[in-house]
Amino acid sequence: MRAEPSASSRAIWLLLAAFYFCVVLSNRSNAAETEFTDWTPRELALIQSLSLSQLRPPPPSPSNRYADNPSAASLGRAIFNDARFSANGKVSCATCHRQDYGFTDDLPRGLGIGVANRRTMPIVAMAYQKWFFWDGRADSLWSQTLGPLENPVEHGIDRHQVQQLVSLHYAEPYRQVFKGDPTSQPVNQVFANTGKALAAHVRTLMPQTTRFDYYADTLPGQTNGTDILTKSEKPGLRLFVGQAKCVNCHNGPMLTNGEFHHSGTPANGEPDPGRGAAFDALEATEFWFFGKWSDADPDVNSDHIRFLDRDTHKYAGTFKTPSLRSVADRPPYMHNGTFTSLAQVLNNYRTVSGSPLADEIFHGGLSDRDLIDLEAFLGTLSSNSNQIHN
Ligand code: HEC
Ligand code: HEC
Repeated sequence: MRAEPSASSRAIWLLLAAFYFCVVLSNRSNAAETEFTDWTPRELALIQSLSLSQLRPPPPSPSNRYADNPSAASLGRAIFNDARFSANGKVSCATCHRQDYGFTDDLPRGLGIGVANRRTMPIVAMAYQKWFFWDGRADSLWSQTLGPLENPVEHGIDRHQVQQLVSLHYAEPYRQVFKGDPTSQPVNQVFANTGKALAAHVRTLMPQTTRFDYYADTLPGQTNGTDILTKSEKPGLRLFVGQAKCVNCHNGPMLTNGEFHHSGTPANGEPDPGRGAAFDALEATEFWFFGKWSDADPDVNSDHIRFLDRDTHKYAGTFKTPSLRSVADRPPYMHNGTFTSLAQVLNNYRTVSGSPLADEIFHGGLSDRDLIDLEAFLGTLSSNSNQIHN
């Protein structure tokens, strides 16, 4: 899933070009369409800021010096797909993070050795994130990857077993990357290095160009005739960047600010404290940004969390804003998988708007038609939506 041109992506671009010409021709005779090509300069700037083409090269990962090492990534990729790293020999990272399902799964809660307490998150463009998990209890990708291995309901093994498995099956690639022997290094060092290899692989998982990106990139300003979005998708986009204020949180090319918010998602079982309970977990481990196995220089890279806002009261019940890339393809939704459709997500936003548990949500004024248009727009953020559906 690297973002390299391939035969299939060339085919998609050809398809898009053909599609583009069809729409241009049909729009010439469609006067009603012109109203949605009149984007204001502010709308235009916002729309273009959401395009995948605006994604900068991934920032470095100072706590993982192997983050961009291709040999580390190929070792990480093998372990990512290796079900021997589990208590029953059947669970790998790829069991829950399925490539064919936007790197998540179709379940309300992830299913490994047992049932996880939250929904599996999609894991594309992770290099751009600062905090990991729904509650942000990990501050680096490599330390995040160690969590599922030792989680009794996910992989259900421990770091000693990780060391044995690496020694048995990956000793040679490990030696090449980390210049040490996995059998003789301290167990926590082998564990941390395994996380760094996994992170190097996960960093390579990138989203694909969608119909929305194509639209944003070909928008030439106020001119008519480049609309490749439908009559419902365009007003949906206008709501998204305007009146509905979705871009307050779902912004940038990944459509997430990576931060934590109250979104008024109803509990589905035990109430979940979210970010409010994450700070202690972060520092309770030696596998974090300032911990023993980090490659970061605390004097140089300290901005990372030194200015962390630790107001646990404010953060109680908040969750990380998820990316909306390919969102229509991967129900169910929210940290607890409580909604089975986008219509339910949007309807809940409207219902909870302004309530104490959703104090940053202002969607009360949206009509039924608006919700339909917003949902139509969300569909354009999937690469398999690259055909017309008026
Ligand atoms: C049993 C299913 C399951 C397995 C197996 C699993 N994950 Fe996850 N993954 C989840 C769930 C559930 C979450 C969210 C957990 C939470 O917030 O507490 C998650 C979150 C993540 C995240 C955070 C994404 C973000 O935006 O913050 C990453 C990265 C990730 N997993 C990578 C991995 C890797 C690497 C492995 C293998 C070592 C793995 N996962 C194994 C279910 C799973
Ligand atoms: C105040 C910040 C904020 C605003 C404004 C906001 N969202 Fe969200 N959005 C979130 C958070 C946080 C979640 C995850 C909530 C959870 O897991 O309980 C979320 C989840 C979602 C999801 C589910 C994604 C998934 O993978 O589960 C969709 C779809 C969505 N938002 C669309 C929208 C749309 C459309 C708008 C505008 C009408 C909007 N959001 C406005 C923060 C926001």
